[in-house]
Amino acid sequence: MRRGLLLAGAALGLAACADESEQEPAPLDEAAVAARSAPIAQRFAADLRMQLQSALEAGGPKNAVSVCRDVAPALAEAASQESGAEIRRIAARNRNPEGSVPGEMQGRYDALAEAPMAGGAPARRIWRAEDGKVHFMSAIPMAEQPCSTCHGRDIDPDLAAHIVSLYPEDAATGFAPGTLRGALLISWPAGSLGA
Ligand code: HEC
Repeated sequence: MRRGLLLAGAALGLAACADESEQEPAPLDEAAVAARSAPIAQRFAADLRMQLQSALEAGGPKNAVSVCRDVAPALAEAASQESGAEIRRIAARNRNPEGSVPGEMQGRYDALAEAPMAGGAPARRIWRAEDGKVHFMSAIPMAEQPCSTCHGRDIDPDLAAHIVSLYPEDAATGFAPGTLRGALLISWPAGSLGA
């Protein structure tokens, strides 16, 4: 009896709270975020892979370095323009230090590193940050081809020298296939998903 009253009181309290704070966003609809974000991530990965592959075939690995250097950010920028979300690559062990993992995202990134694949697809995390932005973080698993050429354990010395000349602090080598190479981060501005 007393317990019932307490529960009723708690429910009223919650209702009052909800009334007072109309600004409070609705609970995050993760399925809807995934439906909007996953195709962007898939397309980014497929386009980049295709461009890398053809650059490697056409001009060799040194030439293809510029694809990862110039084309990857350009693809991310184009996808951002098209979707209204901010899209970028992040990595704990990175080549371009601008793509480091923001401190508050480290825990989620580490979880992806522990299990880069889930149910046959890249693992992901979806959450709303305190500032209202909704983030979709999707694992970029290391693949043997073409990734190992430039991020693997046995990089051609001439290519390695070229990479180090462009990225003196390069930490993005020595990855084994199947491990986490990085993540694609898709960040939706607060309120942009209709919630
Ligand atoms: C021809 C060389 C080359 C190949 C092949 C290559 N990359 Fe890269 N990768 C680079 C370079 C150069 C950068 C730095 C780009 C920049 O300046 O933002 C980079 C950056 C990255 C980053 C961003 C984080 C960081 O380390 O700066 C990720 C993630 C990444 N590569 C994943 C991959 C994956 C996955 C593959 C295979 C599909 C791949 N790369 C194949 C050269 C390569």
